Amino acid sequence: MTIQNGTRSAVFKIVASAVAALSLVAMAAPATAAGGGAKHPRSGGFSFEGPFGTFDQAQLQRGYKVYREVCAACHGMQLMSFRNLGQPGGPFYDAHENWSPAENPYVRALAAEVQVPDIDTETGEPITRPATPADHFPSPYPNATAAAAANGGAAPPDLSVMAKARHDGANYIYSLLSGYVPAPQGLKMAPGQHYNPYMAGDLAPFWEGDEHHVPPGGFIAMPAPLSDGQVTYDDGSPQTVDQYAKDVAAFIAWASDPHAVERKRTGFGVLIFLLLFAGLTYASYRRIWKGIAH
Ligand code: HEC
Repeated sequence: MTIQNGTRSAVFKIVASAVAALSLVAMAAPATAAGGGAKHPRSGGFSFEGPFGTFDQAQLQRGYKVYREVCAACHGMQLMSFRNLGQPGGPFYDAHENWSPAENPYVRALAAEVQVPDIDTETGEPITRPATPADHFPSPYPNATAAAAANGGAAPPDLSVMAKARHDGANYIYSLLSGYVPAPQGLKMAPGQHYNPYMAGDLAPFWEGDEHHVPPGGFIAMPAPLSDGQVTYDDGSPQTVDQYAKDVAAFIAWASDPHAVERKRTGFGVLIFLLLFAGLTYASYRRIWKGIAH
């Protein structure tokens, strides 16, 4: 096909205007950033990122500890059962022992440390009892209204799938938890609110300083939950806010998608199979048509 001169210049015009439009968008981007928006999450350097990434089991164990000792006071993880902790790929899975997740002694012990609500089978009275591997993680509040009332009007969201619910989930959770800084001078804060540069929001209406330098981020009803030395690690990992934030973010990422590693492995196997199969198909095609004019 030959392109007529007229067509060619029309194509050129379209391309040129597309380039112009794109560069306008690119120029406008920094201007929007100056008017609010959250800071881009920092990378937690997670082992599970990328096509061949896997979860670091020791990190998942530490992350569970941080969740249990700190976050569980306010956040439920209703989709998680204790037995999930012992399933293949989980924090307390042991490939050498032949335990089912429900028999796994670590899982049983961890469950028994937590009280869950139940009904007395004889009297029908509400009671609490130690959890078993079959129980779901209990919610700290009886309902969302109680949760909101106890936290200045904002109910702490369930963390079961939080890493999927936010863009760049694990890095976001890590950055949010370790990113609390004092509110900049000139920011009007309501009581019960905290400033976090990684939280989504637009602070322009609350900013009394230079309108071209509105601070990034937003208000969050969660006070900084972590402090250095708060959770004891017995594997020698640093007991710092930064490490706690990474570990608990990894745990939430695993809980949000516990079969991610398995899926990546299967996908890779399927690709290898398809490649071999394509080779075989081509070889048999060559063989079948060998010496036949076609
Ligand atoms: C004292 C109670 C409390 C504790 C402890 C706590 N949180 Fe929160 N968290 C909240 C509340 C309240 C909100 C809702 C904030 C809002 O919407 O302004 C929240 C929100 C969040 C969010 C969602 C932020 C968003 O993008 O909307 C994440 C993620 C989170 N918490 C993770 C954690 C983790 C992980 C821990 C443990 C290290 C933890 N929280 C400990 C009360 C708490």
